[in-house]
Amino acid sequence: MYLDKFRMDGKLAVVTGAARGIGLAAVEALAEAGARVVLTDMNAALLDQTLDALSTRGLNVEGEQLDVTDPSAAQRVNDAVVARHGRVDVLVNNAGIAISNHPAETMSDEVWNKVIDVNLNGVFRSCRAFGKGMLERGGGSIVNVGSMSGFVVNRPQEQANYNASKAAVHHLTRSLAAEWGGRGVRVNAVAPTYIDTEMNKYVYENEEMHRHWVGGTPMNRLGRVDEVASVVLFLASDAASLMTGSIVLADGGYVCW
Ligand code: NAI
Repeated sequence: MYLDKFRMDGKLAVVTGAARGIGLAAVEALAEAGARVVLTDMNAALLDQTLDALSTRGLNVEGEQLDVTDPSAAQRVNDAVVARHGRVDVLVNNAGIAISNHPAETMSDEVWNKVIDVNLNGVFRSCRAFGKGMLERGGGSIVNVGSMSGFVVNRPQEQANYNASKAAVHHLTRSLAAEWGGRGVRVNAVAPTYIDTEMNKYVYENEEMHRHWVGGTPMNRLGRVDEVASVVLFLASDAASLMTGSIVLADGGYVCW
């Protein structure tokens, strides 16, 4: 009975920013659990490459180009997917960027707005577009990828734009959970620590960063993409049927200190 709750057979899931990294791991988790997954990403070439690789492995996937900063794109993709499959059961809002090392007192409007537009406005637009259909059909599960940066201020890099965007994603998650909880749509978030991706590998060569990032983590290591994807799968699935408005930390204990 319990293992079945994690199964996603017959479900249709959409993941944003799915061509690589945490988004790709979330696709793998959902597809392995039985879902058909629509990968979306702004990078069409990378998306095609990723789709080819996943299809070769026999995973049940398809793709749609989606730039979450395009105000009408989420609605277009929702309508296309619903026209093909009749519904969207799960939405994972993963697309996100960081522009770090910008002290607040000199951060330009451009650098501030770019991060807010992808990380916060993009999540809102996708929740609005896909959530509306879920509400009309009376069910769905949305998982937003937040960050521990929505709980603590990272050190030593200055990134007020990113930190504020992720704290806002967490409270957007709670706001939508409250509005939609009585109508069958759950909205939760996962808040990861630093993940061992290509982008973060330089930390192993930089003593100061390593001291703060790894030394500041009780588990004394970065996370892996699959460790975030497991939480995404759990929150998306019926195993989390009583959960909405939860922000689940997957941070190796980082915020304990
Ligand atoms: P990544 O940079 O490896 O992959 C992000 C994907 O999103 C790329 O395929 C990119 O093309 C796509 N993307 C970027 N802007 C987009 C847009 N406007 N519209 C659609 N797609 C877009 O990123 P990563 O590391 O996998 O991060 C994924 C999420 O996890 C982000 O929301 C990030 O803030 C969050 N996160 C990442 C952590 C880390 O250490 N890597 C830690 C905590 C949270």
